[in-house]
Amino acid sequence: MPDDLAARAAELRQQLHYHSYRYYVLGDPIISNAEYDRLYQELQQLEAEHPELITPDSPTQRAGSDLSDEFPKVRHPAPILSLSNCFSVQELQAWEERNLKLLPAGTQLDYTLEPKLDGLTIVITYENGVLTQAATRGNGEVGDDVTANVRTIRNVPLRLPARPDGPPSPPLLTVRGEVLFLKKDFAALNRQQQEQGLPLYVNARNTASGSLKQKDSRITASRPLTAYIYAVVSVVGVTLVTQWQTLTYLGDLGFAIPPGAAHYPTLSDIIQQLPTWESRKNQLDFEIDGVVIKVNDLRLAQELGFAGKDPRGATAYKFPSEEMTTRLIGVTVSVGRSGKVTPTAQLEPVFVGGVTVTSASLHNYDQVARLDIRLGDIVIVKRSGEVIPYVVGPVTGARDGSETPIVPPEVCPYSGDPLVQPEGAVDYFCPNPLCPERVFRSIEFFVSRGAMDIEGMGPQTVKALIERGLIRDEADIFTLRRDDLLELEGFAERKVDNLLAAIEAAKSRPLAQLLSSLGIDGVGETVAGLLSSRFGSIEALMAATVDELDAVEGIGAVLAQNVVDWFADPHHRRVLEKMRAAGVNMQAQPKPVASAALAGLTFVITGTLPSLSREAAAELIEAHGGRVTGSVSKKTSYVLMGESPGSKADKARQLGVPIISEDDLRRMIGNGGSASPQQPSLL
Ligand code: IVH
Repeated sequence: MPDDLAARAAELRQQLHYHSYRYYVLGDPIISNAEYDRLYQELQQLEAEHPELITPDSPTQRAGSDLSDEFPKVRHPAPILSLSNCFSVQELQAWEERNLKLLPAGTQLDYTLEPKLDGLTIVITYENGVLTQAATRGNGEVGDDVTANVRTIRNVPLRLPARPDGPPSPPLLTVRGEVLFLKKDFAALNRQQQEQGLPLYVNARNTASGSLKQKDSRITASRPLTAYIYAVVSVVGVTLVTQWQTLTYLGDLGFAIPPGAAHYPTLSDIIQQLPTWESRKNQLDFEIDGVVIKVNDLRLAQELGFAGKDPRGATAYKFPSEEMTTRLIGVTVSVGRSGKVTPTAQLEPVFVGGVTVTSASLHNYDQVARLDIRLGDIVIVKRSGEVIPYVVGPVTGARDGSETPIVPPEVCPYSGDPLVQPEGAVDYFCPNPLCPERVFRSIEFFVSRGAMDIEGMGPQTVKALIERGLIRDEADIFTLRRDDLLELEGFAERKVDNLLAAIEAAKSRPLAQLLSSLGIDGVGETVAGLLSSRFGSIEALMAATVDELDAVEGIGAVLAQNVVDWFADPHHRRVLEKMRAAGVNMQAQPKPVASAALAGLTFVITGTLPSLSREAAAELIEAHGGRVTGSVSKKTSYVLMGESPGSKADKARQLGVPIISEDDLRRMIGNGGSASPQQPSLL
C-alpha cells in the first residue's frame, strides 16, 4: 500500500476530528456539512479499499457526539444510527446491488422515499400514551435529556393517541424524528430579532439545535420549532413489518410524519422521483439536504445489518450542496440607475449549487454591518435554483485576527459625489443623476427588452456610445447618425442600418411603454398603463399635481410624490424635450370625448359606487370634460359619494360642497351617461 495513501488517511482523520470538535463541542463549525461529508466519504472509501488503514480512532469507527455537560443523560433503548450517503444515481444502484447480494436470490426490494429533513434528531418515549422522556441523539447510545424543552414543541403530542380516531397507545413506545424550523417560522424569528435590534440568526439548523438545548425551557417555548417523526425505535405490544406501515401508524397516532413521504415498488421508481424532489426543494416549507431511501421490509432491512456504523437498509441521496464556504477577498461597489449602491463580494472560486462562483451579492452595507462580515473572512455562500449567489454570513470561528471591517465608501466610485443614506433606508445612494455609471445603467435599462426594446443595442454598444461621447442620455439615442455608428467597432453597414431601423421603430412605442422605460421609481408596466390612460400625454402628466395623481385608483400618495418629483427634475424635463424634438411619441391613443357637459367642474370621488369603479367614474367624468382630484377643497364642485365614504364626505359637508350620487352624475351628463350615441362604450 503506497505511503501517500496512508498519509492522506491520517490527514483526513485529523481534519475530521478537528471539524467534528468544532461542530459538536464548540458549536462553531468552520466548514459546511457538505464539505464535512465529502472528507468523510473520501476517508470511508480509502478505508474500504485498504482496510489496513482503519485505525481505532478513525472518525468512521464511531458516530459523532453532541453531548453537553449541562443535561442529565438518557440511554436510548436501541442505538440511534446514522446513514450512509449517495451522491449519484450510480451510487444508489450500487447500494441496491450490494444489498441484493446479501439477501436470498430472487429477493425483490420495495422502498419508501422520505425528505431528508435538515434538523436535529430527537428521540421521544411515551409510557401508556404519556410523553415521559425526550432526548437528543448524543453519541447514538446516550443522549441529553431535553424532555421539558420538547414538551414545548406544539406538534409533538403530549398524549397518545393525539387523534380522537387513532389506535390505542402501546404501553411503551420510543420514536425518532427530526426537530427543525419551518422556513416561515425562521424568517419570522429573524424579523423579531431585527425589530428588537438583535443579531440575526444565520443558519436554521444550528438555531434549532441551540433552541432545543436551552437550560430554560421558556426560551425553547418562545421559538416556533416543528418536529417530524419517521421511525419507531422500540415498541411493546405492536408489530410493525414495513417502514410504510410504520409511517402510517405514526400518522394515525397523531404524529406529524415527513411531508411527501411515499412508498414505491422499485428503486427505478424512486430514481424517477429524484429530479422532482430536487427541483421542488426550494418550494418546500422546510429545508432538506436530500432524500432518504429505506428498504420497506423491516425484516429484510434488519437482515442486511451494518456497514461500519451505518445500517445497510437505508441510505441518504444528497443533492449537490447549495451552501459552501470560501474566502471573501474583496468587495466591489456597483451603482444602479437610481443611484443605489450595492456591495458585491469577490470570492475565492468555489463550486456551489453546480457552478463555480467568484462573486456574490452582499445586499447592502447595513446587512454587512449587521452580520459583521469582514474582508478576509471565510464566508458561507449560498446559491439555490435561479437566485443570484449571495453571502449568508461569516464563519466567525475561522478568524485569525487579520480580517478587516468593510466600510461603505464615502463617495461614489464613479462620479466622486458624496454618497447619501436617506433617513430610515438601508441603502446608500449616489445623488448625482449625471453620474456616468447611473447614466450607463439607465440607458442600458431604457433600451432593454421589456422597456423600449431597441434590438441590437446591448450593454456593450451603450457603453461604446457613451465612451465616444455619442450619447449622454436616453434622448441622444434618437438623434444618432449613420456616420457615428459606422465608427463603432464591429458595426458594418448592415448592422448600422438594422440598429437605425430599430431606433426609428422605438420612436412610436405607446406612451405607457415610454413611461415604464424612464426608470421612475415605482412606475412599472401596470402603473405606466394607469398613468397613460388617465393623463393621455407626457405634457398632462408633467402638469399633474400630487393630489390628481393620488386620486387615480392604484396610485398611492408616495408613488404620486415620486412621479411629481421625477417630472419636476430639470434634467428629466430636458431629456423629454429632446425626445419630443426627435419625434418620440408622447401621446396616448386619443381618448374619445363624449361631451362637454362637465366642462369646468372639479370632482372628488369617495366610497364604493353602485356600478362604476373609481377609475371608470373618473374616465366618465373626464370624457365629459370634467376634472377629478384627490382631496376636497373650496374649489371642488362636487363630491361623488358611494357606500362607506371616508373623511372626504365630512370635509365636503364642512365646506358646503354639494354631495352627489352616481345617478346624479348620470343625470348631469344626460341620457344616463352615454351622451354621445357614437361613444356608447364609454359606459
Ligand atoms: S432515518 C437508520 N429518515 O439524517 C435510520 N433520517 O444523515 C437513520 N434525517 O441522523 C435515520 N430526515 O437525523 C432518517 N426521513 C429521515 C430523515 C433522517 C432527516 C436525519 C437524521 C439522521 C441523519 C442521517
